[in-house]
Amino acid sequence: MKELWYKNAIIYSLDVETFMDSDGDGVGDFPGLTNRLDYLSALGITCLWLLPFYPSPNRDNGYDVMDYYNIDPRLGTLGDFVEFMHQAGERGMRVVIDLVVNHTSNQHPWFLAARSDKNSRYRNYYVWSENPPKTDPEQLMFPDVEDSIWEYDEQANAYYLHHFYKEQPDLNIANPAVREEICKIMGFWLELGVSGFRIDAAPFLIKGIGIEGADPEHMQAFLTEMEEFVSSRQSNAVLLAEANVDPDQIPIYFSKGDRMHILFNFLLNQYMFLALARQESSPLRDGLKILPDIPPVCQWLNFVRHHDELTLDRINSSKRKEIFAAFAPDETMQIFGHGIRRRLPPMMGGNRRRIELIYSLLFTLPGTPMLRYGEEIGMGDDLSLEGRNSVRTVMQWSDAPNGGFSTAASDDLARPAIATGEYGYKKVNVAAAQRDPDSLINWMDRAIRIRKQCPELGRGKWHILETDSPAVFAHCCDWEGRTVIAVHNLADKPCTATLKSNEYTHLFDLFGDRIYESLAADSPSIPLEAYGYRWFRVNREQY
Ligand code: NOJ
Repeated sequence: MKELWYKNAIIYSLDVETFMDSDGDGVGDFPGLTNRLDYLSALGITCLWLLPFYPSPNRDNGYDVMDYYNIDPRLGTLGDFVEFMHQAGERGMRVVIDLVVNHTSNQHPWFLAARSDKNSRYRNYYVWSENPPKTDPEQLMFPDVEDSIWEYDEQANAYYLHHFYKEQPDLNIANPAVREEICKIMGFWLELGVSGFRIDAAPFLIKGIGIEGADPEHMQAFLTEMEEFVSSRQSNAVLLAEANVDPDQIPIYFSKGDRMHILFNFLLNQYMFLALARQESSPLRDGLKILPDIPPVCQWLNFVRHHDELTLDRINSSKRKEIFAAFAPDETMQIFGHGIRRRLPPMMGGNRRRIELIYSLLFTLPGTPMLRYGEEIGMGDDLSLEGRNSVRTVMQWSDAPNGGFSTAASDDLARPAIATGEYGYKKVNVAAAQRDPDSLINWMDRAIRIRKQCPELGRGKWHILETDSPAVFAHCCDWEGRTVIAVHNLADKPCTATLKSNEYTHLFDLFGDRIYESLAADSPSIPLEAYGYRWFRVNREQY
């Protein structure tokens, strides 16, 4: 039986390449990350999600893998990885790694063999066509660079399928040999102690595009096979799927609790930004209401931002325009026609109260919260960098050159540091933030401490609470006879929200944007500052 540890985890996503460089070559590495585990554990992080660290030509930030059984030599060795895993375990931290198997790099030996020999056993590892259909623009993941999902390969004398860059040929999951390879890869990393995998591009993996006679049931059944394999090797390991899909598609991934355990909550994320743009709670309520019920072992992973664009492709274009107008008015801040390539603090004009409100939502919305490196100190973006690289600058540790990330010359960094301006490392860095009792990191520290004491939020049954105030989002989570209520004012004006039900009395403040006067035992009226938020436990005795 699963322990469901992920239901009350605090997940932190990072890219080893941009986190901490230990040897001054300009590239973050495993020894650097290992040295920072105390920092992460002190922040209250219980699980790390590592972006791909495999050998890669790096056409797509490591999401183009050349060797699934190794570490990119720039980031360290397998020995460094094992040492890192040991040290993470010593601190009680779990590690989930990216599994990128919708596609390989075009430099992967399987692809090299497949394209050069029609009779190679690897030929059928990929999806080929002699006469592919025209690409529908909706199928393009990177419409700024690619205009087709089929690329002609002269050596193979055929077209191969690639949903992402042409350097990322799609694997053929209908082929049992490919399924076996994928399980073998998972088995390898499970032996090295990881607690699960983030399944990259899950919808594409099971789509079956271009595969003759592909049966949807058979394609989707691979998700069950993956779960069976992983659980047989390590009962508590999880599969966390990147599946940005419409609500009616979600059951494909969770099924009866025997496929993916966790899904990124892309839908709620998009509705949350609409609610923020409008300063109204109704989109957030809608976002929660459209989510289907999920099996008891399954979970949502809530996030504010991650390493890609903030995608707004699940809401209609007029709603998207509202969000663009509020948070990314300049075209240079947008990408792919439906995304925003900014970090949160600049999107919010640096408004600390509003930023706190958003992270308070992150920590209380039903599900497990995920932070991305740098969010805890309010790092900004660099729009002068190409595409999604704007949000992939290096971690800012101190006001030393390169933000303390590396002693290399700044021109030699794998990715640039933000050196100047409001978000430059002189102003925004871990060392300065830790010295300042009012910093965002010290706020996060408290928020995480309280969140961990509220398992109701991750494990409980939730429902929305009606109030008389359209700007206020209030919800309630019950678990094992205990109840937590969170109330958020999305507007820039103070208000008093009155709960319509008087079912909840004796609300005891756990956390908030300031110290409020305690509510009278039977009062359903809750004062809130502009962008104010309060978390309560129902019944003082339960504290
Ligand atoms: C999703 C990843 O998050 C993104 O960065 C990548 O480009 C695509 N999958 C392709 O692997």
